[in-house]
Amino acid sequence: MVQAVMDKQFEQAAGRESILSVRDLTVGFGDNIVLDKLNLDVLRGEILGFVGASGTGKSVLMRTVLRLLPKRSGTIKILGAEYDKVSEEERIALDMRLGVLFQHGALFSALTVRENIQVPMREYLDLPQELMDELARLKIELVGLAPEAAEKYPSELSGGMIKRAALARALALDPDLVFLDEPTSGLDPIGAAEFDELIAKLRDTLGLTVYMVTHDLDSLFSVCDRIAVLGQKRVLVEGTIEDMLACDEPWVKSYFRGKRARAIVREHG
Ligand SMILES: Nc1ncnc2c1ncn2[C@@H]1O[C@H](COP(=O)(O)OP(=O)(O)OP(=O)(O)O)[C@@H](O)[C@H]1O
Ligand SMILES: [Mg+2]
Repeated sequence: MVQAVMDKQFEQAAGRESILSVRDLTVGFGDNIVLDKLNLDVLRGEILGFVGASGTGKSVLMRTVLRLLPKRSGTIKILGAEYDKVSEEERIALDMRLGVLFQHGALFSALTVRENIQVPMREYLDLPQELMDELARLKIELVGLAPEAAEKYPSELSGGMIKRAALARALALDPDLVFLDEPTSGLDPIGAAEFDELIAKLRDTLGLTVYMVTHDLDSLFSVCDRIAVLGQKRVLVEGTIEDMLACDEPWVKSYFRGKRARAIVREHG
C-alpha cells in the first residue's frame, strides 16, 4: 500500500503516467536466476531504449512482461492493471493494446505480408475479410512499404522490409504500447536510421509508447527519450542519454563513452 502511494507520487511528480511498471521482479530457470528484484517504469508516450550485454536477460524480461515466461515473484502492472489479478476477459482486452516485434522469427514464413498483419485481427476481432484487407493496406502504408508488398512472402523481402512488415503486424490492432526486440539489428546504418525515424514518427503521430531493446548506439542517441541499462540481474541505471554519459558505472561508461560511442556523440553534437 505504501509502495503504491509512493509510486503514484513519483509518477505525479514526474508528470507522466507509467504505462508499464515492474516491481521486484524475479525470473529464473532452475538455478539460473536471470532477473533479481528488478524495477522498471515505462512512461506513456516515450521511446524507452533498453540495453545490456548479451545474455543479461533483455529478451527474458520482455517475454515475462508479455506473460510468455513465468515469474518467480514481483508485480507487473501494465496499462494500469495487474495481469495476475484481472479476469480472462480483461486480460484479452489488455493483450489487444500491446504490439510485439520479436527478436527472432518476426513473421510467419508461410503467410504473405497481408496475412501476417491479419493474424492478430483474426485472433482478437471478428471482421469481414474486406475490412481486414483495407486495414492491412493502411498498416502497410503506415510503415512505408509499397502496396505490392502485401502479397509477398517473407522470403521475397529484404531484411529492412521484413522489419517494417513485422512492425505493421505489431501495429495491427492500434496498440498503446509496442515491444520491439532489436528492431534494427541486421540493417545497414541507413536502413536502421530510416527505421528509427519511422518509430519516432509513430510516437509523435499516434502517441505510441515504445519499449525498444537495442544494441544500436545510433538509435539510443537519436530517438530514445530515456534509456534503461540491464546488468547484474536488474536495471542498473535509468535516464536520459545525458544521464548515461555522466554515469560512472563501468559497463555503462565503456558502452556510452567507448570509441564507437564517442564517434556518434561527435556526430550528434
Ligand atoms: N527458455 C529458457 N530456458 C532456459 N534459459 C533461458 C531461456 N531463455 C533464456 N534463458 C537464459 O536467460 C539468460 C538471458 O537470456 P536473454 O535471451 O534474455 O538475453 P538477452 O539479454 O536478450 O541477450 P541478447 O542481447 O544476446 O539477445 C541467458 O543466460 C539464457 O541462456
Ligand atoms: Mg535478446
